[in-house]
Amino acid sequence: MSDESEHLQELILTDARQIYSEAVIDHAMAPRNLGIMKSADGYASLTGACGDTMEIWLKVNNDAVVNAVFMTDGCGPSIASGSMVTELAKGRPVSEAQRIAQQDVLDALGGLPEESQHCALLAADTLKGAIRDYLLTKREPWKRAYRSH
Ligand code: FES
Repeated sequence: MSDESEHLQELILTDARQIYSEAVIDHAMAPRNLGIMKSADGYASLTGACGDTMEIWLKVNNDAVVNAVFMTDGCGPSIASGSMVTELAKGRPVSEAQRIAQQDVLDALGGLPEESQHCALLAADTLKGAIRDYLLTKREPWKRAYRSH
């Protein structure tokens, strides 16, 4: 990277630090669990009031979330929220992961500006949807044949 672009990146980061926590910047710039999953045990796609969509795929074993990945076409805070909510879900029993709420995502991220807090809600609600999908398929396994993910 040239000195000029490094300087520019530093200026952008300095600006971002006025608004966002280090955790938000870190998860937005280097998102964890970004991707898609084949043959997932739970899946949800949700579009928020802002028009952005998040998708979450889960792999579940012995009623525990062993893997979670996400994809979004949303803003930086939505990327940070998807990254954090999947990190929070991984390794937890499904019953616990189901209770992860917007506030848990916000707390783990060190907060978000008011106008971006709905991005954490989108992430938490998408996770809940993916868990609901897992539970539904568990109760009615024949539905698995009709899944496209
Ligand atoms: Fe839509 Fe952030 S503005 S998810």
